[in-house]
Amino acid sequence: MIHLKTKEEINKMRSAAQIVVEALNTLREMVEPGVSTWDLDKKAEEVAIKRGAIPAFKGYSDYPGSVCFAINSEVVHGIPSKKKILKEGDIVGIDFGVILDGFYGDSAITVPVGEISAMAHKLLKVTEESLLKGIQEATPDNGLFEVSGAIQSHVEEMGFSIVRSFVGHGIGKNLHEDPQVPNFVPNNGKRSNGVKLKPGMVIAIEPMVNVGKPDIKILSDGWTAVTVDGTLSAHFEHTVAVTENGPVILTQ
Ligand code: MF3
Ligand code: CO
Repeated sequence: MIHLKTKEEINKMRSAAQIVVEALNTLREMVEPGVSTWDLDKKAEEVAIKRGAIPAFKGYSDYPGSVCFAINSEVVHGIPSKKKILKEGDIVGIDFGVILDGFYGDSAITVPVGEISAMAHKLLKVTEESLLKGIQEATPDNGLFEVSGAIQSHVEEMGFSIVRSFVGHGIGKNLHEDPQVPNFVPNNGKRSNGVKLKPGMVIAIEPMVNVGKPDIKILSDGWTAVTVDGTLSAHFEHTVAVTENGPVILTQ
């Protein structure tokens, strides 16, 4: 069931989302060779708590950290660790969410560590562009898969692939609500445009893009998703409200 949000609820969600933005901006500034994902995780918690929010991922399905990291060929859900130390040339995905006043905010960025390769740079650019192209389609009366298709087309035209195993999601009083938001147009034999988008829907759109093949596997820690072929992967995410005036990025 899709929960439509009132304007007041969307404002509450914006307040939660803005704490996520502050945390991600703080972490982006901290990213440099020698920093561990543990240090970044602690800082994100500190920002959330200072603002009266609760880190949303810790304890969710028993996830042990507050932030999900993804270095290089990791796709998503890397657990923070003192042993995971960033080095020059890495790219690092940083995915964070909080709960404030009963509502969730969720956003992710992928950040270069020092100088990165031209391919890594292109991957970050194309992944973020695909997210923005998807968001542009999040308007009332569009089908949800207009969002999915805009993301997929851009990524594939640029020669990269969309991860299928994870999707975006509705968000509100729960981290994951209906509808699922795929970053590709599902093809189950029947063509569909997806559910009709309506003012009051709030969705987290989160393309995960691989340089090589779309396949992923989960490491033995039970969480970290990596590309099967070992190629680089990037992830960007925004919490977006569908309004009468079009899409509004709450995690802007
Ligand atoms: N942004 C991710 C998501 O929307 C992070 C949640 S993972 C978990 O699913 F750690 F919280 F489980
Ligand atoms: Co999400």
